[in-house]
Amino acid sequence: MPQLDLWSWVYLQLGRFAAILAARLATLHPNPEAPFMWKGRFTQQTADLVQRYGESVSYDWRLFPHDIAGSIAHARAQMNARLLTEEEFVQIETGLREIEREIEEGEFEFSNELEDIHMNIEAALTRKIGPAGSKLHTARSRNDQVATDTRLYCRFAIDSILSLIAGLQKALLAQAENHAATILPGYTHLQRGQPVTAGHHLLAYVEMLERDKQRLSDCRKRLNVCPLGSGALAGSTINLDRSAIAQELGFDGVSTNSMDAIADRDYIAEFLFILSLLGAHLSRLSEDLILWCSAEFGFAALSDRHTTGSSLMPQKKNPDVCELTRGKTGRLVGNLVALLTALKGLPLTYNRDLQEDKEPLFDSVETITLVLEVNAEMIASMDLNIENCRKAAEDPLLLATDLADYLVRKGVPFRDAHELVGKAVACAEEQDTTLDTLDLSLISDKFGNDTESVFNLEGALRARSNPGSPSFENVMGEIQRWKVELA
Ligand code: ARG
Repeated sequence: MPQLDLWSWVYLQLGRFAAILAARLATLHPNPEAPFMWKGRFTQQTADLVQRYGESVSYDWRLFPHDIAGSIAHARAQMNARLLTEEEFVQIETGLREIEREIEEGEFEFSNELEDIHMNIEAALTRKIGPAGSKLHTARSRNDQVATDTRLYCRFAIDSILSLIAGLQKALLAQAENHAATILPGYTHLQRGQPVTAGHHLLAYVEMLERDKQRLSDCRKRLNVCPLGSGALAGSTINLDRSAIAQELGFDGVSTNSMDAIADRDYIAEFLFILSLLGAHLSRLSEDLILWCSAEFGFAALSDRHTTGSSLMPQKKNPDVCELTRGKTGRLVGNLVALLTALKGLPLTYNRDLQEDKEPLFDSVETITLVLEVNAEMIASMDLNIENCRKAAEDPLLLATDLADYLVRKGVPFRDAHELVGKAVACAEEQDTTLDTLDLSLISDKFGNDTESVFNLEGALRARSNPGSPSFENVMGEIQRWKVELA
C-alpha cells in the first residue's frame, strides 16, 4: 500500500465514516422506494425482473369487488373490537367504495410494484385516507385475504354459470319440444342403431347439464366457508368476531383449521373439474351437431349468424362455433391439470406456487361463460331437417332388434331370436333386398305373416314406452317435467 500523507488519510477515514453512517441511516429510514408493505426489513427495491415475474395484479384485479367486500367486513369487525373508531371505519368504508368505483370506471391506476390486487387497494386506501388505512391489515394476512377473495369469486362465478347452463337447457328444451316427433336414427359406434326422436336426443343433453348444475351447487356448498381470521397460517393474537365477518360476506360458517384454510385450494380444483366435465358434455353436443350439419347426415342446419364461410371455397358453411367449443374443452381440462400439478407436493401452508391457481381459474370461468352463451344462441336458431332425419331412420335395419323382440314374444329365447334375425339380415344383404321385404319364412317358421307391423316406425317408437325410453308420450312427459323444472 503506498504511503498516505496526513490529509489523504483523514479524507479516507471521513469517507469510511460517511459510508457507515449512510448504511446506518438507510436501516433507520428505509429506502422509500422499497415495497411499502415490507419496507421495514428491506433496504433495496425489488428487482424489475422479479416484479414482472411475481406480479399478479394484471390478472387478479378481477378479485377487486370481493377484496373490497372482505375488507369492509373485516374493518367493521375491527371497529366492533374497538381497534378502529367509528370515524376511522367510515373513512375506510368510504375510501374503499371510492376505489371500487374508480376500478369499475377504469380510473384506477394499477401498479406492478404493488404486486397484487390486495396491496394495490390497501396502498390506494392509505394514500386516500391516511393513518386509518394502515390499520386495516390488523389481524389479517394476504394469505387469508386471498383465500377469502377466491372463494367469493368462485361463489359468484358458480351462480352466474348456473343461470347460463339453465339458459342453454331452455334452448335445448325448446328444440326438443319442436322435434318431439321428429324421428331419426340413434347411434352406437356411430353406426345406425335404433330409431329415436330428436326430442329424446336433445333431452339427453338437458340431463347431462342438470348433473353439471347439481355438481356446481354441491361445490358451492362446500366452498362457502370463511377463511378470514386464519391470518398468515396460525390465526391471530387479536381476536375479531369471525362469525360476524362470515355472515356479512354471505358465508355459511367459518373455517375450523387455520392451516388448512390457508393451504386449501380444493374448491378451485373441484370447480375446474366440474367445468371440464361440463366442457366435455358440450364438446360431445358439438360433435353431434357437426355430424348432423354435414352433407353426409344432413339432419340440421345452423344459422348463417352462427357459422362461418371459407375464404377460398365459396360453397362452405362451417360449424366453427361447435369446433371451437370442442377445442376449448382442451383448455378447460388443461387448466384443471395445471392446478392439480401446482398443488401436488406443496407443504403446508401458503407457498407462492398458490398464486398460479388464478389464471387457470379465471380462464376456465371466462371460457365456459362464452361457450354457454354462444351455444344457447346457436341452438335456439338451429333448424332440423325433418325429412332427412326420417329418411335415415327408415332404414329397416334399425328395427332388427324389434324383429328379435317379436320372436321373443312368440316364445323364442332372445339369443336364438338374435341369431335368426342376424341370418335374415345377412340373407337380405346377399339377395340385395331389404329386411322388411325379405321372405322371412325362408329363415324360420317362427316368423308369422304379421311381421309387417314390426316395420312401422311410429309403432316401433310407441312401443318404447317404459320410463326413460323414447316413445312420443314419454318424451312429451319429459318435456313437461323439464318445463316445470326450468321455469
Ligand atoms: N398474490 C398472492 C397470491 O395470489 C397473495 C398472497 C400473497 N401471500 C404471500 N405470503 N406472499 O397467492
